[in-house]
Amino acid sequence: MAYRVRPCRSLDELGQAASAIGHYFGWVPTGEEVERFSQVLPVERMHAAFDGKEIVGGAGVFPFEMTIPGGPVSCAGVTVVGVLPTHRRRGLLSRMMRAQIDDIHERGEPFAALWASEPTIYGRFGYGHASLTHEIRLPRIWAALRAGTPARSGQVRLVESDEAQKVLPRLYDRVRKETPGFLSRSKAWWELRRLRDDPSRRPPGSGPLNRAVFEIDGRPAGYALYRIAQSEEDGHWKRNLRVVEALGVDTRATLEIWRFLLEVDWTDDIQAFLLPTDHSLMHLVARVDRLDLRVGTGLWVRPVDVGATLSARRYRSDSRITFEIRDSFCTWNEGAWTLADGVAKRSSRRPDLRLDVQALGAAYLGGFSFAELSRAGLVEEASRGGLARADALFRSDRAPWCPEIF
Ligand SMILES: CC(C)(COP(=O)(O)OP(=O)(O)OC[C@H]1O[C@@H](n2cnc3c(N)ncnc32)[C@H](O)[C@@H]1OP(=O)(O)O)[C@@H](O)C(=O)NCCC(=O)NCCS
Repeated sequence: MAYRVRPCRSLDELGQAASAIGHYFGWVPTGEEVERFSQVLPVERMHAAFDGKEIVGGAGVFPFEMTIPGGPVSCAGVTVVGVLPTHRRRGLLSRMMRAQIDDIHERGEPFAALWASEPTIYGRFGYGHASLTHEIRLPRIWAALRAGTPARSGQVRLVESDEAQKVLPRLYDRVRKETPGFLSRSKAWWELRRLRDDPSRRPPGSGPLNRAVFEIDGRPAGYALYRIAQSEEDGHWKRNLRVVEALGVDTRATLEIWRFLLEVDWTDDIQAFLLPTDHSLMHLVARVDRLDLRVGTGLWVRPVDVGATLSARRYRSDSRITFEIRDSFCTWNEGAWTLADGVAKRSSRRPDLRLDVQALGAAYLGGFSFAELSRAGLVEEASRGGLARADALFRSDRAPWCPEIF
């Protein structure tokens, strides 16, 4: 049977290609949903796999910017990857990944990133696991702030969606520009993917999306999006506050927005996902042991053009380092690259480190060190002191944080 992979050419094709992953969620996108989806994922950024005339798989890219140490750069946000169960294990995913990465390369997007629902899938295509997430579930009875926390300041207001649409993006952008892992969000993204609150799409038992803005001297400085879910357990009603996203532009705003969330009366516990591993909440609460801290996987990063990816970053020292890269999927990256004064060039120097492109992706955002990757056998130190020099260069003050799954 002849299969073909090519970019979609119409909304109808986009809908069919998205239906492949939709199959696994029990979701068949309506025409209206496809139209909305196309506002954040342009039709031509969706590849479709065809069996004859029938679309049996899809793989898409959100064209956005992701902040890396040094600032935002363009990034291919890989998403909605799926092949119908009738066509699994015939190489269609591999063919879509091939076509997609060639397209990303031609467009000049230096790297790709994704969230993997199955971490065993993407390594073969050169994606490295680049960040961890923290999840908390804090019983409200243990939700006190630590002794010595500054007295309350400012004021929190609950706002309507229209006001949130005006205020939140500005606050988000301030945090985004300095936090590796954050994504740019278009107006449509805010509307459709953050603030839209279709009752039929709420998590089971969940109430509406609440929008809280923290203001200091009348100026917005932080916000929280959250829902309250009520469920019955052993004849008792339990209420769970689920934080969708909470940000402060500075230390005080972060403290105050979390103080607000932790103090909402009548809730039994407060749950938050996708927090960075260095979130200040760990130091704000009196009982870190009661956070029920769990670790999850985070972003996967794939340098598509190693030279451009390395040159896009800011580094913490001006020492020089040479990588010998192996990349069987994107052979144009293979060989030695010397990074000096923030610019990566092809090189004939002897390497300091030997590694697969995956390991470079894993270290890129500063979430994992070359030393720890080396202890796992993923990086080989080829010159004395190579690991320490690479880590001095790549060190970042902030853990990568992507507050949403895309
Ligand atoms: C995962 C999925 C996209 C794979 O598609 P596919 O067309 O069957 O994959 P391919 O035939 O191209 O397989 C390519 C390679 O990946 C491997 N592979 C495929 N699915 C895998 C999985 N879930 N876990 C581990 N390896 C997997 C194959 O064994 C094959 O390996 P090989 O090259 O060594 O032979 C498809 O099964 C699917 O849609 N699953 C449900 C949705 C999903 O998980 N999507 C990904 C969201 S992150």
